[in-house]
Order: sequence, then C-alpha cells, then structure tokens
Amino acid sequence: MQPIGRRMFVGSVVAGSLGFFATRSIRASDARIEILINEPINTISREIYGHFIEHLGGVIYDGVWVGEKSKVPNIGGIRRDLIEYMRKIKPGVLRWPGGCFADSYDWRDGIGPRQNRPQRTNFWINENGNQNSPLAYDNNNFGTNEFLRFCKLIGAQPYIAANVRSLTAKDFYQWVEYCNSPIGMTTLSKMREAGGDREPFNVHYWGVGNEGWGCGGDMTPDEYADEFKKFAAWVPSYSTRPALIAAGPSSGDTRWTRGFFSRLTERSEGELGRLYGWALHHYSGSTGKRDPFEFTQDEWYELLGRADRMDTLITTHWSIMGEIDKTRRVKLIVDEWGAWHHREPDMPEKYLWAYSGTLRDALVSALTLDTFNRHADKVVVANVAQLVNTIHSLFIAREDKFLATANYYVFDMYSAHQGAQSVRTVFSAPTVDYKIGDKTNSLWGLAGSASLKDKQLVLTVVNPHHDQPRNTEIAIRGAAIKSGQSRTLTSTDLHAHNGFEHSRALEPKDATLTTSGSVIVYQFPAASITRLMFDVG
Ligand code: AHR
Repeated sequence: MQPIGRRMFVGSVVAGSLGFFATRSIRASDARIEILINEPINTISREIYGHFIEHLGGVIYDGVWVGEKSKVPNIGGIRRDLIEYMRKIKPGVLRWPGGCFADSYDWRDGIGPRQNRPQRTNFWINENGNQNSPLAYDNNNFGTNEFLRFCKLIGAQPYIAANVRSLTAKDFYQWVEYCNSPIGMTTLSKMREAGGDREPFNVHYWGVGNEGWGCGGDMTPDEYADEFKKFAAWVPSYSTRPALIAAGPSSGDTRWTRGFFSRLTERSEGELGRLYGWALHHYSGSTGKRDPFEFTQDEWYELLGRADRMDTLITTHWSIMGEIDKTRRVKLIVDEWGAWHHREPDMPEKYLWAYSGTLRDALVSALTLDTFNRHADKVVVANVAQLVNTIHSLFIAREDKFLATANYYVFDMYSAHQGAQSVRTVFSAPTVDYKIGDKTNSLWGLAGSASLKDKQLVLTVVNPHHDQPRNTEIAIRGAAIKSGQSRTLTSTDLHAHNGFEHSRALEPKDATLTTSGSVIVYQFPAASITRLMFDVG
C-alpha cells in the first residue's frame, strides 16, 4: 500500500460520520464534482438494473424455488421473501435459464405437470471443473411457466437465453411460440394454457445462446455469426417483436466482437437489423484466495480496479461495433457482471460460489452501476450475476433462512436513477495508489454518476479510499438545490458483510441535508457508497 497523495484539509468541516454539507466551507475541499445538468447523455434504462438466475448450485432450487408445499413461505412455490425484497428495488429484467446451463437445456423438459417432468443431469457440478465428483441433477420443477410467473410477481421483463449448442433453430422458434403465440391459436399456446397460463407471456428479450466462444459451443466468431444468422433468420413475432441478443465477448476479447460483426455483415449490412443487442460478460474475481472474506488492503483496491475495467470495456467494444454499425442500431447488453469469489466457508458444498458480499463487493456494485449510468447511450440492459446464492448475489437463502447482502442495498439506493436522464459529470480527486506484486497501480479517488427526473437530482458517489473521507465541492451547473437527503453505505470494517447471525451488519443510513444553492461541500466517508438526492429549482 502506497501513501496517498492529497492536499490537507483547510479548516475543519467534519461533522459526524454521515458527512457535512455547507456552502461556507468550499475552500476546505480536496475534491470536486461538477454536475452538468444541461449536458444530457440519455435516459437510464430500467433494464440496466437487471438480474440473472441460472440452474447452478443453490440459485434456483432453494434460492428461488422452494415448492408449493414447502414450510418456507412462498407464492406458488416461489420464495415469498425474495419476491417482496425484489419488488422494492424495481428490477428491470430477469435473465434465465443460463449462462452455460442454457446451452444444454431443453425447454420442453420444464413444462406440463411437474410430476411428469424428467430428471436431467445438470451442466454445473462443482466449483473445480466437472471431474471425479458426484453429479448434480435437475428435476425441472422450475421451468418456463414458473420463471415467467416469477417475473410477473416481481415486475421484471423476462429475458430468455436459447440453446444454440445442443438444440436447433426450430426448437428456439417453438419456445417463442410457446411463450408468445395468441390464446388458442397454436398447439403450443394450448399447452401453455394447460400449464396454467392462458395469456401469452409476450417475452421480448431472447438471447441466441450464451458464450458461444466457450461453453456455448467453443466456436470461432465466424462459426457463431453463422449460427446466429440461422437462429435469427425467422423468429415468429406475434404481438411482441423479439429483441435478439447475440453472445458477445468475455471482457477484453476484441477479436470476438470484430470477427462477429464482420462475418454477420459480410453479405449485407441489413443483417444488423436482426440484432438488438451485443452481450458483454465481465467478472472481477479474487486471485487464489479460498475465503471471500479474506483480503489485504491492496487486494481491496485490486478488485475495485478490475471491476472498473467495465468502463474501458464498454467504450472499446462500442467503438469496434461502430466500425460496422454506423447508424448505431445495436446496443450493448452486459448480461453477466460481478465479483466472483469462492464459496464462504460455512456454505454447503452444493451451493456453488455462494457467499454474502462484503463492503468491497458492494463498492463493485456501485461503481459498475455508475458506469452503466454514465454510458446510458450505449448500455440498455445489464444483469448482475446472479440474484441469489451464487457469485455477486443480492441474497443468501438456505431453507427458512434468508438475508439481503450488501449488494442488495446498493441496488436499492441506485434504483432512484431508473428512467431518469443521465447527465454528464466531471469528478476530480487525488488518485489512490496500491501495489500488486512489484507493480504500483492507481485508482481514481472518487467516481459516480448523476441523473435528473422531474426536478429530482440524484448523485451517487463511491469513495474507494480505505480510511480517508473525501471533502468535496459539488457544483451544480444549470440548477440550484432547494433541499436534499443522503443515504450512505459504509463501515469501518472493510470486510463487513451480512450473515445469518448478523444480517444487518451492512445497511445504509439516511440523513437530511439542510442547504441550498448551486455549490456545496459534502464529506464522503472512507470506503463508502453515497446517494445524494436533491430537490432542484
Ligand atoms: O454466471 C456463471 C457462469 O459464468 C455462466 O453460466 C456463464 O455464462 C459464465 O461463464
């Protein structure tokens, strides 16, 4: 850990851990945020506040699905607590059934009376690859109807990933038909009705496979583009035109993006018209550590730095897409992101990669959502991986126990940005240096995003510094503040996380701010996520 280069505070403006707010103390700031109200970026899509559930470990079975006869309170077999918490954060979209699982899933296994559904071998077996271990099985109790009912219950748009590796384009069209064809018009709509859902589900978002470069078929960009064309050539529309999403790159794989777009448009640029979105995946993970709660101060910053690559990944892939997609028809979809660690020590082995995120993971959530907000003109859908009991989850659920992780509270705080106009911001603050091996790296000292809706200005800010609060001058160009509130998620313990025995270790705190004007000073606590909401005139 290197010393941090920064100016000393001039005078004292500190008033309690929740920060201080005053127009008189501008000279005491060592950082600055400008909010340029008159420089709109785009409306922040509700769907970038999206989620993902896969038939993996404890995600579906126990996490989401407990069954109608369970002692765990449920609505039609779906965990009631999960539904209630999700409603509060207004989830834009929910992706299912995978992930890698999608490319070995036959949707026909998951429809009709549950007692008749087949038991199949799951793609996901353990955390160390698939060798020499007991297999995992799936009884298909949670299928298409159950998924779509869950979406309705929480108010999210469904996003279904089709199987490209091991099923055909015809199977895909028929899945669309099962979900979307009008009442009584096709054999499949009658089967849907027999399954308990008469009305079409009108599923709009459809993924054409997943990770075509890996578990989705180990294809080259050319091979995948050819498959995509086949799947996209004729998809029945009914009352909802399917928005097709192609399996994009893993993190910085620019070869995959360039290769796919070139091959897709080899004969005609018109092919772009069939493509709604290009799906990027980016995970940041801890290197080698077995315990998700163990990390050094440098590793705290290292993970934040890795997650922060999202910004460059978005601009890099976006610029490559633009070499071919000159009119910008195709949008970016980040349908898997998060910090990926090992399972927490007390978690049963079959709950693959299940851990309650620490404060560090919460900062990953916040800085990533801020990145999406700032790129609201490019990113229209995003799905954190995954909702419950694995990777960057919002919840941990085990039988009758249930808790919201720190990530949940970040989604809650940031939901205020949904549907608002993202506006340009300029952040300046001393950077933070940290060491990885012999190399010194640096991370910004403050970052965030701002949005405006109906005279409500929302500013979200991450202070990554492990122990230094950041006194900041906030200048609002084009409006003046009348009143404001703050909500802050922080802890003096960088490793803090919620657990079944301490389910409220990390929870945001609210405060009312008394100020007015267009330039103010606020102190962002060390290692914190802050949302400031202002009524502006
Ligand atoms: O989210 C877990 C897995 O990560 C997904 O199944 C896959 O798409 C990715 O590699």
